[in-house]
Amino acid sequence: MNDPLIDPFARAIQYLRVSVTDRCDFRCVYCMSENMTFLPKKELLTLEELDRMCSTFIRLGVRKLRITGGEPLVRRDIMTFFRSMTRHLDSGALSELTVTTNGSQLEKYASDLYAAGVRRINVSLDTLDEAKFAKITRWGRLPQVLRGIDAAQAAGLRVKINTVALQGFNEDELFTLTDWCASRDLDLTFIEVMPMGDLGNEDRIGQYWSLKELRKRLEERSSLTDLPEKTGGPARYVRVQGTGQKIGFITPLSHNFCESCNRVRITCTGEIYTCLGQEGHSDLRGPLRASEADAELEDAIRAAIALKPKGHDFDYSRQQVDGQVSRHMSHTGG
Ligand code: GTP
Ligand code: 5AD
Ligand code: SF4
Repeated sequence: MNDPLIDPFARAIQYLRVSVTDRCDFRCVYCMSENMTFLPKKELLTLEELDRMCSTFIRLGVRKLRITGGEPLVRRDIMTFFRSMTRHLDSGALSELTVTTNGSQLEKYASDLYAAGVRRINVSLDTLDEAKFAKITRWGRLPQVLRGIDAAQAAGLRVKINTVALQGFNEDELFTLTDWCASRDLDLTFIEVMPMGDLGNEDRIGQYWSLKELRKRLEERSSLTDLPEKTGGPARYVRVQGTGQKIGFITPLSHNFCESCNRVRITCTGEIYTCLGQEGHSDLRGPLRASEADAELEDAIRAAIALKPKGHDFDYSRQQVDGQVSRHMSHTGG
């Protein structure tokens, strides 16, 4: 019954990303439209249901749990859920409990996260320029996020900055961002922009900045050594000679990493998406609510994982957007 979760391509599923809300206090242009309609609260899994869902996955071999959103820290009472996951860290069943956040609520929650057993968090930050920050997040304010990062470091959390590489937007900040992270002892990962959501008014090909290019620019200044290190996520890391800084690259477009994919995603309504870049998903909320025993849920999880596709089809190489996915990134939490 507790056989590990293995997908049709022999990939073991040990990393679960759970979105706990579709809401966010920002409206990043590549993630959401300005006028989003959010789900009514009754559609969401309750905190108890989230616990049951995650605990079932952990019993089936998940070792790394990442909480996402929307913005996970805007969900009411979310610390209750984090605290309920601490027992899986204590038992050794879970090796990492972590969160991807926009940073806006960290001043409030950093020490609670640490107390719940979180040791490492990822904070999304695409620019250090206040005006540009306001532009890309539409509703966000940079100083609040910077205070949040300070609070996280003061609480003892290791912070990794996630920066979406955007041509014509933060190209000119490559070294500013890199040096700022080095001086603040922050890890840094660049991400290629993916064609998700409503691309009506947006030019993703125009925005796309290949990390091969970005890496070349970094190498013009310092040499980089590839690291064997893996966090269980898709990033591949390098060490910058001289400063010793660690920089990660997430390259869904320029270098597909699907063959080593170890993750699945749960939305805040209890759907499982077995690939970020595909539309295929299955409902787990029905089976979860159908009975208090977890057998039905387990069967549904196994059935969904048996359908996990080989990978995404994102592709800009023919000067057009291929493999686009219409749902917003906030739906599955990236
Ligand atoms: P670490 O534990 O720090 O390695 O984190 P991670 O890279 O697993 O998590 P993070 O939330 O920082 O992921 C960064 C971004 O990488 C996500 O928000 C997505 O945009 C992208 N990403 C993660 N997994 C996948 C994936 O399976 N496919 C694609 N195409 N992109 C992914
Ligand atoms: N392409 C790449 N990354 C994205 N993110 C959100 N939307 C996109 C996109 N279209 C990133 C955010 C955050 C993480 C959750 O996903 O910047 O770091
Ligand atoms: Fe909110 Fe993150 Fe999406 Fe930005 S990328 S709108 S911060 S969920």
